Amino acid sequence: MPIEGIPEININNRRYLGNKYRLLPFIRRVVDQNCADINVFADLFAGTGAVSSAFSDNCAIITNDILYSNYLSNLAWFGTEDYDEKTVADFINFYNDIAPTEENYMSENFSNTYFSTSDCRKIGFIRRHIEDSSAAGTINGRERAILVTSLLYGMDKIARTCGHYDAYRKGAKFEGSIELRFPRTSHNNNAANICFNRDINELAPEVEADIVYLDPPYNSRQYCDAYHLLENVARWEQPELQGVARKMDRTALKSDYCTRRAADAFSQLVGALNCRYILLSYNNMGTKGDDRSNARISDDEIMEALAARGRVAIFEENYRPFSAGKSNIEDNSERLFLCTVE
Ligand SMILES: C[S@@+](CC[C@H](N)C(=O)[O-])C[C@H]1O[C@@H](n2cnc3c(N)ncnc32)[C@H](O)[C@@H]1O
Repeated sequence: MPIEGIPEININNRRYLGNKYRLLPFIRRVVDQNCADINVFADLFAGTGAVSSAFSDNCAIITNDILYSNYLSNLAWFGTEDYDEKTVADFINFYNDIAPTEENYMSENFSNTYFSTSDCRKIGFIRRHIEDSSAAGTINGRERAILVTSLLYGMDKIARTCGHYDAYRKGAKFEGSIELRFPRTSHNNNAANICFNRDINELAPEVEADIVYLDPPYNSRQYCDAYHLLENVARWEQPELQGVARKMDRTALKSDYCTRRAADAFSQLVGALNCRYILLSYNNMGTKGDDRSNARISDDEIMEALAARGRVAIFEENYRPFSAGKSNIEDNSERLFLCTVE
């Protein structure tokens, strides 16, 4: 039922590199057929949280992501603090009605790049208003997360990009103006759900779960580069920006999993996990693409790390990879490595 007549958004209504929404039936099937007594599901490279959403009706969910923007969205979808629908709806209606004319951080830095000047003014106004309302105690932490998520999904829908923020499409027409929708969140999340915003290798020893699902970046492409603008708006620290793509300093957000340190990081991570099953998504790009799209962890390295913890089975399903159109890679499949910890 739409709340107060506001159109809704679902967890998958955003573009995100490597998101597993289309693979949920496959992932569910592998877990249902091979894993017993799953009550706590940990999704420690959670991204959009899509995979957790397939388990959240029956399990307690633990999410984690190094990006604060993903943390806030995961808190909106899986958080345990209650929220007042009417309060959130009133904020969304107010935001959809305003047309601010004053300049702000967004309009000063992003006018006519990814968004028009008027949308930049609106995005900057909304983000500041959410933060001020949170500081004043008018909204609680979950309501803040829901409103920021609504803003990020709204931005993604109209951004003049091909889905990520490495560059904007100069000269392309702006697609309508920003409209906020109501995230289809739940009042009935499992009381034991927890959302983290940490580096996975630091967090891993502190997590206990029946199954840990791992979906690391596959290649050298850093998520903080691809989503710097959404991250900037989510964090709202208003840093100085650099270059044509208007990126903030992302040093603290870089992931080892996109570098030559990936295999070592993975092996250390797998060794530190407290769980009965480890489920890993990793495609079979290997060294078939260009250097940027080549997998950072080899199959041998994956098998060595997992086999040190238990029995490993591999499940495969055909899948079309993300490609900027330059590489023509066929015979691509998405694999799930399931380790039954012994
Ligand atoms: C392939 S995506 C996950 C996609 C997710 N399964 C989905 O369906 O949306 C990998 C995620 O890992 C996060 N990440 C990368 N390195 C990380 C690290 N060291 N610690 C925590 N999260 C990390 C990225 O920000 C990104 O969201």
